[in-house]
Amino acid sequence: MLKVALPKGRLAGEVFALLEKSGYEGALAGKDSRKLVLDDTANNIRYFLVKPSDAAVYVLHGAADIGVVGKDILLETGPDVYELLDLRLGVCDMVVAGPEDFHDTKNTLRVATKFPNISRKYYGQKSREIELIALNGSIELAPIVGLSDVVVDIVQTGGTLKDNNMVVLEKIMPISARLISNIASYKFKAGEIDRFKQALAAEVYK
Ligand code: PRP
Repeated sequence: MLKVALPKGRLAGEVFALLEKSGYEGALAGKDSRKLVLDDTANNIRYFLVKPSDAAVYVLHGAADIGVVGKDILLETGPDVYELLDLRLGVCDMVVAGPEDFHDTKNTLRVATKFPNISRKYYGQKSREIELIALNGSIELAPIVGLSDVVVDIVQTGGTLKDNNMVVLEKIMPISARLISNIASYKFKAGEIDRFKQALAAEVYK
């Protein structure tokens, strides 16, 4: 049985739609329930619904053979997994954002983020001194209340920035969801994994 970790939340709808179009609609009838395990017996696949930032953890430890995870999480946590396919879903940008009237005049820039490693690397390459403020969510609040000068965060629709009077100051990199595989699973379940990957790739790149 192929075990697949899928993200809940914002990305879930796009991932389920892709699976459906790729011929994997078997388990998806249960997707609106609170079930965390969905079985597709016809295709011999078991799906786990996980917090998006945890999908790579399930795959890294082999609890799932493959999974769908954002490139942002892969870059931030650097798990030892294979990246098999760019699914071109959840497309967004990693950016530096700040208040509309922000002027960078500080010696040490205070940066609030859910992505400390990406931020450290980005500012390290620019030799810019920063103070990192690690948060878990509602990042855009930090400059508003004076906790930070700027944020390093994901922008998708731009709605959160706009509603909080902030703008993109610098684009760091484009982000999208990737299909990843556990290294041992890729050896022992090569046929099953390749079949799944090819079916998705045919739909994504048609
Ligand atoms: C993400 C991200 C931004 C927002 C951007 O947060 O951290 O806050 O989405 O999306 P937008 O450009 O479409 O507005 P998320 O919704 O995951 O919630 P969080 O604040 O709990 O991290």
